[in-house]
Amino acid sequence: MTTYITTPIYYVNAQPHLGHAYTTIVADTYSRFRRISGEDVRFQTGTDEHGDKIAEAADKEDVAPKEYADRISGMFRDTWPILQVEPDNFIRTTDADHIAVVQEILQNVYDKGDIYFDEYSGLYCRGCERFLTEKELVDGNCPDHQQPPQEIAEQNYFFRMSKYQQQLINHIKANPEFITPERYRNEVLSFLSEPLEDLCISRPKTRLTWGIELPFDENFVTYVWFDALINYLTGLGYPDGEKYEKFWPVAEHVIAKDILKPHAIYWPTMLLSMEVPLYKKLHVHGYWNVDNTKMSKSIGNVVRPKELVEAYGIDTLRYFTLREMSFGLDASFSSEAIVSRKNSDLANDLGNLYSRSLAMLQKYCNGVVPAPQQEGGNDKQLAEIAEKMLAAYTKNMETFQFHRGLKAVWELVSYANKYIVTNEPWALAKDEGQRPRLETVLYNLAECLRLLALVLKPVMPETADKMVAGLGIAADDASVNLLAVGGAWNVLNPGTVLQKADPLFPRVDVKQHMGKDEKKSDTSKKEKKKANKSVPANAEGLITFEQFQQVEIRVAEVVAAEKIKKSDRLLKLTVKAPEERTIVAGIAEHYAPEEVVGLQVLIVANLKPAKLMGIPSQGMVLAAKTEVDGETRLVLATVSKPVAVGSTVA
Ligand code: MSP
Repeated sequence: MTTYITTPIYYVNAQPHLGHAYTTIVADTYSRFRRISGEDVRFQTGTDEHGDKIAEAADKEDVAPKEYADRISGMFRDTWPILQVEPDNFIRTTDADHIAVVQEILQNVYDKGDIYFDEYSGLYCRGCERFLTEKELVDGNCPDHQQPPQEIAEQNYFFRMSKYQQQLINHIKANPEFITPERYRNEVLSFLSEPLEDLCISRPKTRLTWGIELPFDENFVTYVWFDALINYLTGLGYPDGEKYEKFWPVAEHVIAKDILKPHAIYWPTMLLSMEVPLYKKLHVHGYWNVDNTKMSKSIGNVVRPKELVEAYGIDTLRYFTLREMSFGLDASFSSEAIVSRKNSDLANDLGNLYSRSLAMLQKYCNGVVPAPQQEGGNDKQLAEIAEKMLAAYTKNMETFQFHRGLKAVWELVSYANKYIVTNEPWALAKDEGQRPRLETVLYNLAECLRLLALVLKPVMPETADKMVAGLGIAADDASVNLLAVGGAWNVLNPGTVLQKADPLFPRVDVKQHMGKDEKKSDTSKKEKKKANKSVPANAEGLITFEQFQQVEIRVAEVVAAEKIKKSDRLLKLTVKAPEERTIVAGIAEHYAPEEVVGLQVLIVANLKPAKLMGIPSQGMVLAAKTEVDGETRLVLATVSKPVAVGSTVA
C-alpha cells in the first residue's frame, strides 16, 4: 500500500506562520501515521515562487525576484526541521524540471484545443492571484483581502474549464470522499450548480514577467495557479517515472478553505483535459485565528512557529494544534489555550502517568518489566479500553479527524491513571502474597506506555522516542513502530530493562505528582522504612495524593452575581467553568455582586450539588479566611494571571 500526501506550496512573499505550520504538521503527522501502518509514503511540500505578489515583494526590497524567492523559500525549508516535519520532497516552482513540465502540459492542452485566445475584462484580486466574480465580492471588496479588485481588460489565453464542468460534478457526486469534510464538498457542488466560466491562464509580459513563458506565445507568461497546481505532478517526475506510477493514483492534498476553488475546480478540470486520473482526496481545513481575531500583518498578531517552539516546545505545539482544531472548522490560538493543554493533557495526564509508572517499576521491580501472572481488578477493562482506543485512533487518523483520534488516546491515558489509583500498587507492594498481582499491574502499565508511545509517535515524535527510550525498547523495534505488529495488547516483552527516564514535560515537578509511597527510588533506607509504614488518611492530618486528586479544582469566571433575598450571607453566582453553572457562595458580607463579576475564581467542580435557600448550587468557591481588626474576612482565591476558563488547578 502507498500514500502520497501533499501540502499547498506556499507563496514566498511572506515568512512561515502558524497557518502554514498547521497544514504542514497535519501532512507530516498523516505521513508518519501511514508509515506506522506499514505503508510506503511520499510526503511533498514546497514553495510557489512566481506571480505578481512575489515580483512586488522583491521590488519593494530592491532585489531580483529569484534572489528574493531563494531567501524566503529557504526560510520555509529551514522551518520544517524545527517542527519535526520531514518531507520526502521540497519542490520549488522555479526548478528547471518543473518549468519544463508545465510548458509541456500547456502545449499539449493547447494542441488539443482546450486553450484559446480572447479579449477579457474582469475584476482581478492580486491577493488571490485570480479574477473574482461580482457575486464573490462583499461590499465591493474581495472577502479574503478586504480590498477592491482591479478592473482589468486585456487579451489573454483561456482554458476551457466549462467543457469539463459536468464531468467534474459527476465525479464529485460519485465519490463522496473526493472532497472532505462534507461542508466543503457541498460548497463546491453549490458553486458548480451555476455555469462555470473558462479560466484565464495567461498574463501579458507587459504586465508581468515573473512567470513561466507560454510555449506557444512568447509575449505571455502562464497564470500562477496553472503553474503551481502542476507541482503535485512534477514532484513525482510526471509524465514518466516510477514515482508517478506508484504515487499519483493515491494522491491526497491538504489545504485550507482559502484555496478550495483552485483545488476543487481548476485542478480537476485541468487533469481531465490532460487525461490524467484525478487525485484521490482533497482534505480541507479551517483557519487559525489568534485570540479569536483574524491573523494579519496589519493587526500585528501573526504567530511565528519558531517562537512557539521556543516558548512551549515542539511536541506541545504539534499536540495542541492537532487536538485543538476540529479539522474543517476554524480554531483560535491563544497562549492561555496552549498552556492549558500543556499543563492538563500533557504534563498532568500523560507526563504523570509515565513518571509514576516508571518510578514504581524502578522501585518495586528493580527497573525490569515483570511478567503478567494474575489477572484481576479492572485489568480486563484496561485492555478493552486500549483496544477500543486503537480502533478509534486508527479510524480517525485515516479520516483526518485528528482531534477525535487524540481524544480517544486520552481516554486510555485517563483510565490508566485511574487504574493506578484503584489498584494501589504501593499497597500491593507491602504484602509479599500480592507480588503476582503487583507485577501484573505494573506490567499492564508498562504495556499501556508502549502502546501510547506507538500511537503518539506520528503526533509527538520526540515524546514518543523518549517514552520508548525510558521503557528500554530499541528505537527500531516493531512493537513501537508498526500498528499491525505492535497494536495488540500484551506485546511488551517481560524482562525488558528500563532506562533512566527523563520527565516528558520537564516543567512539571514529578515529586509533587507522586503519591507519598511512590517517591523516587533513591530514598535513604530510613526514609524507605518510614514510607513502607502505612500512613492512614488523616492520621497526622495528611492525605494521600490520590485522595487529593479526587478533588477537582478549576478556574471559573464569574459572569453574573446577585444577592439572594432573605439572606445577608449568600450570593448567587453564575460562572463559566467552562460550562455555565450556578454556585451559591457565602460571600455576600464581603463582596458586592458587581465586585465579583469578571473575576477568575477557583472552584471545587466535583462537589455534590446542594440546595441553598432553595437554589441548587453546583460547586463551591474557594476563599481565604483572614482576620482584619478582629473580624473574619473572606478573600476570594484567584489566579495570578488570566487563564483559559475551566483550566484545572493541580
Ligand atoms: N501558493 C498558493 C498555494 C498553491 S498550491 C498549488 C497559496 N499559498 S499561501 O502561502 O497563501 O498558503 C495558503 C495555505 O497556507 C492555506 O491553504 C493553508 O494551508 C495555509 N494557511 C495560511 N493561513 C492560514 C491560517 N490562518 N490558518 C490555517 N491555515 C492557513 O495559497
